[in-house]
Amino acid sequence: AGTTEVDVSALEPGQRLTVAWRERPVFIERRTSESLELARADDDNPDLIDPQIDADRVLDPEWLVVIGVCTHLGCVPLGQSSNDNRGRFGGWYCPCHGSVYDVSGRVRRGPAPKNLEIPPYRFLSDARIRIG
Ligand code: FES
Repeated sequence: AGTTEVDVSALEPGQRLTVAWRERPVFIERRTSESLELARADDDNPDLIDPQIDADRVLDPEWLVVIGVCTHLGCVPLGQSSNDNRGRFGGWYCPCHGSVYDVSGRVRRGPAPKNLEIPPYRFLSDARIRIG
C-alpha cells in the first residue's frame, strides 16, 4: 500500500503528467535538454530561496518527479505551458498567493519557503516509475 506505479513511456520530451500518490498530486516531467540547461544554469544562483542543485533533485536528469503541493499553504501549482507564461523559470505557478517554481521545482518567488518536495521513487525500468 502507499505506492503508485506509473507508465511514462508515452511522454515526449517537454511533456508532463500528474499522478496521484497518497492522495497528493505528483508531477512528472520528461525534460528537454533546454530545460535541463535552464535548471543547471541556476544551480549557483544566489537568489535561490531554498538553494539546491538540480542534480540533487533527480535520479535521472531527464525526469523530474516532484510532489505537486505548494510549500506555502498547500495549493496545487499550475503547470505553465512552454510558449506562454512558463516565463524565465520554466516551471509552475501557484494561483493561491503567487509563488513561482522553476524547471527543477525550486521556489523562485515566495511566499513559499521551500522547493517542491521530492517523493521517494525509483525506476522499475526505462518506462516505469514506482512512487512510494
Ligand atoms: Fe501557494 Fe500560498 S499556497 S503561494
